[in-house]
Amino acid sequence: LTNDELKGRKIIVTAGPTIEPLDPVRYMTNHSSGKMGYAIAKEAKQRGAEVILISGPVNLEPPSGVELIKVNTTEEMHNAVEKHFESCDVLVKAAAPLDYRPVTVSKNKIKKDKAEIEIKFTRNPDIVACFGKMKKNQLLVGFAAETENLIENAKKKIVNKNLDFIVANNILAENAGFKYDTNIITIIDRDGTTTDYPLMKKEDAARVIIDKISVMLNC
Ligand code: PMT
Repeated sequence: LTNDELKGRKIIVTAGPTIEPLDPVRYMTNHSSGKMGYAIAKEAKQRGAEVILISGPVNLEPPSGVELIKVNTTEEMHNAVEKHFESCDVLVKAAAPLDYRPVTVSKNKIKKDKAEIEIKFTRNPDIVACFGKMKKNQLLVGFAAETENLIENAKKKIVNKNLDFIVANNILAENAGFKYDTNIITIIDRDGTTTDYPLMKKEDAARVIIDKISVMLNC
């Protein structure tokens, strides 16, 4: 079913992993497939929103009608969000950006002539926290992927990153979190209220998330 409840609203969705090069042939990344973010972009588009999908490298077809901006590194993702943030109503950070990048990217392929090598890493910008500091009327929706103390850590992220709500993923449960077509989410509000959802398709989780955004925008 298609309706127009988000007509006139501009929503930025970030999706997928970022990658950070180590040398001309190697890079670091993580297991994000982009499925969660792409499902959210599709749902928002179907409800009438103008959608900008800022995506790390994934093997997915973008939903029709969304503006796709492809990025590689966390810094590129940050710059792409920056271009559109001021004019958006909502930023949904479903991406899994790498928190660190190598201090230097080797100009040449790193040789395997040593038994051990050391690579020094430096912190990447925290994209959502940065826009949390400068937001005016925008709704900011974060995600949390943790292997321990998920709800406690997710609650801290709401405050530290100045989010309107956060979607905590149970990444340790079977068929949930990174890569799968299904997910188990808990939505946490700023006042600490938690709402648990059962295992569901990422499309259905996207509907729950967009329903909440829609209610918050129209309140
Ligand atoms: O892509 P899929 O395979 O479908 O999997 C979905 C998912 C598990 C990747 C997704 O639902 C998810 O949880 N994304 C957030 C993963 C993550 O980076 O979590 P975090 O707890 O490290 O980060 C918290 C929040 O800060 C996230 O909204 C993240 O986008 C944001 N962040 C993180 C690091 C960074 N440098 N900048 C950010 O903005």
